[in-house]
Amino acid sequence: MVFGAATITDRLSAQSPQAAVLGPILGHSDETSAMVWMRAATAGAFTLEITPEAGGKPILLKQAATEKDDLCIHWQVTGLQPATKYRYRVLEGQKELAADVGQILMTAPKPEAPAKVRFAISSCAKEDAGSRAVWNRMASEEVDAVVLIGDTPYIDSTELEKQTKRHHEFAAVEEYQALLKSRPCWWTWDDHDFAGNDSSGVAAGKENSRLVFTRYRPQKSYGDGTGGIYTSFRRGPVEVFLLDTRWFSMTGPSFAASHRPTMLGTKQWEWLQQGLLASTAPFKLLACGVIWDDKENLESDDWGTYKHELTAILKFIGEKKIHGVILVGGDIHASRVLRYKTTKTVGYDLPQFIASPIHGSTIPSLNVYNPDLVRSAVEPHVFLRVDADSTVTPAEFHASLINKDGETVFSYHLTTDDLRPKA
Ligand SMILES: [Fe+2]
Repeated sequence: MVFGAATITDRLSAQSPQAAVLGPILGHSDETSAMVWMRAATAGAFTLEITPEAGGKPILLKQAATEKDDLCIHWQVTGLQPATKYRYRVLEGQKELAADVGQILMTAPKPEAPAKVRFAISSCAKEDAGSRAVWNRMASEEVDAVVLIGDTPYIDSTELEKQTKRHHEFAAVEEYQALLKSRPCWWTWDDHDFAGNDSSGVAAGKENSRLVFTRYRPQKSYGDGTGGIYTSFRRGPVEVFLLDTRWFSMTGPSFAASHRPTMLGTKQWEWLQQGLLASTAPFKLLACGVIWDDKENLESDDWGTYKHELTAILKFIGEKKIHGVILVGGDIHASRVLRYKTTKTVGYDLPQFIASPIHGSTIPSLNVYNPDLVRSAVEPHVFLRVDADSTVTPAEFHASLINKDGETVFSYHLTTDDLRPKA
């Protein structure tokens, strides 16, 4: 990777990893706004300068890095033009702090404009060489956006210091920073970044996990504003609903069955229903850390434990005739595609894609038999490369599981015709 001269100097002069600048990287962005994140090495004022690639007046935004926020800065840039390329740099006073030529920001096209987008989606990453090779592969595949759905990173604690240390170490991976300096990323968590293995919303100290997540992950919103981290975004023909399947789980009775525990919580369920009803996207991804099946092991963190809520979601999609829904999960260190025979309830056969792991430890025993399984692979260092294209009719959704060497492990192709309610 190539760094600007000032950045190299800063990195070399850093006394310890804690003293290095992290980022800048890109978070949420849409057709008129973008978020840029950086963790400064010291408290102070830092200016983000954004300039249209085609030329024009730069936008300057000054932000303070404070110890209170662990020196994490979120710049929210508004008033941008759709489908437009911008260059950005970070200044400390008059000095260039981060001014790499690769610092490019591309806004989303207008939602209704026919467009092609390429996403990378995966889960379960460490800071090892194999995970770093996956970040490099995502970059060389020229994905437009990255979606990370949990165990990114492994923390296994809700202690503030441990959460902070692990987020810091993860964000310090140079290949991760290089990938995300020029494409937006969205995140949700799974058990290991939320609290610990198979953890639920009753985990003590979960407020610490959320606080650190909000510092290190620049999203437009986090859950309901006080709890959870669910969020959504639209890019081209795809709208992604990033669900939080941890924060609210087991915290009270379910909206779907009062004698059973909740997974999503009532507010997230209402948010999801409103979002699905309002969405005009040809493809609507419901993405979360866990899988949409029963894992068939002793753990309870899967949709199999909350079948009553899964049933409510499927019933809602069917009754409201919501087309284009695709389920996405991670967690199990195996990758799969399932095509459920849901035409009677949903109106069409719902697909699920499972993408895991980015690191190297697979779990063959979780690649269990399922009559609806259409693809599977127990393969390390993988991500799902999604090409969605609404410039053709019907719009296409082509997903391939790609490994760190760029090999295609499997592919599965859908069109909007496959995901339209049968009369
Ligand atoms: Fe994992």
